[in-house]
Amino acid sequence: MKIGFIGLGLMGEAMSRNLVAKSGHTVQVFDVDRAKVDHLVAHGAEAAGSVREVGAACDVVFSMVPKSEHVEAVYADLLTVARAGQVLVDISTIAPDVSAALAARVAATGAVMLDAPVVKSRPAAIAGTLGFYVGGDAGAFAQVRPLLECMGSKIIHLGANGTGLVMKLCHNVLVAEIQNGVNEILTVAQHFGIPLDSFAEAVSYGGATNFYLTSKLDTLRREDFTPAFSAENMHKDIGYFRQMTGPAGLKLPGVEAAAAVYAHAMATGLGGQDFSVTRKAVEDMSRG
Ligand SMILES: NC(=O)c1ccc[n+]([C@@H]2O[C@H](COP(=O)([O-])OP(=O)(O)OC[C@H]3O[C@@H](n4cnc5c(N)ncnc54)[C@H](O)[C@@H]3O)[C@@H](O)[C@H]2O)c1
Repeated sequence: MKIGFIGLGLMGEAMSRNLVAKSGHTVQVFDVDRAKVDHLVAHGAEAAGSVREVGAACDVVFSMVPKSEHVEAVYADLLTVARAGQVLVDISTIAPDVSAALAARVAATGAVMLDAPVVKSRPAAIAGTLGFYVGGDAGAFAQVRPLLECMGSKIIHLGANGTGLVMKLCHNVLVAEIQNGVNEILTVAQHFGIPLDSFAEAVSYGGATNFYLTSKLDTLRREDFTPAFSAENMHKDIGYFRQMTGPAGLKLPGVEAAAAVYAHAMATGLGGQDFSVTRKAVEDMSRG
């Protein structure tokens, strides 16, 4: 079996390296940035010159690119060579309806598409301990599960095409809401003279303890916002979530608060930094 991997960014680089190291199969890789392909070749992967080349050569193809439009561009090429027996697994975080529509077009070729977005960030991608939320055909899921296990340690099948992405967007927006609470109340605590470390220690003994503050404490302490998951990507996910929930007529004030913080972060040029940089956006907004 030959495995393809398209998109070798913050996540794809580490994930494809785990496939090379653990799957026992040849892994062919492609990115529009040739330097990223060369880097993976130095770690045992095989280079491809285009998306179509990957699609033509591989039995299972993973894609890990930023947004819906990038996945649509990748699939425009994969669809020209898709065939029965092939499984295409998009692991990017994109709009669920876009993914489901692509899955229907893939099905018409005889191939199968799954959405399998991931939770947790680059450290878990390196460690091979990501979570996967999978939507689509159960048989194809069973077929690719051993490959997902090379990259992740918690793998959940949610249902039909798009449901993996619905769950992923729910997950990320919940993180954004928790983060908003941490950012806002930390701003208040510091205003009244409580330093970050005391705040974190106090919270860790109470009912407000949370993974976000624990995992980002050192980042917040050092104010080093080198991206593991960019503010731009979380802004994108909140946007997809609102597109998904808007037509359902749901009123979600917490989501709107998180959206306003990310809009501010983007408008003030923080989008390329780690999403924990919203700490600065909330501080800024608290001053009016
Ligand atoms: N970084 C994280 O912590 C994290 C966690 C979970 C999910 N995600 C999601 O994973 C996806 C990728 O995130 P990332 O942080 O790795 O982004 P990234 O920007 O670091 O990497 C994306 C890569 O895709 C490549 N690319 C774009 N268009 C392409 C195309 N048409 N063909 C081939 N390559 C193409 C880019 O050159 C880049 O190397 C996003 O949807 C993001 O929301 C990220």
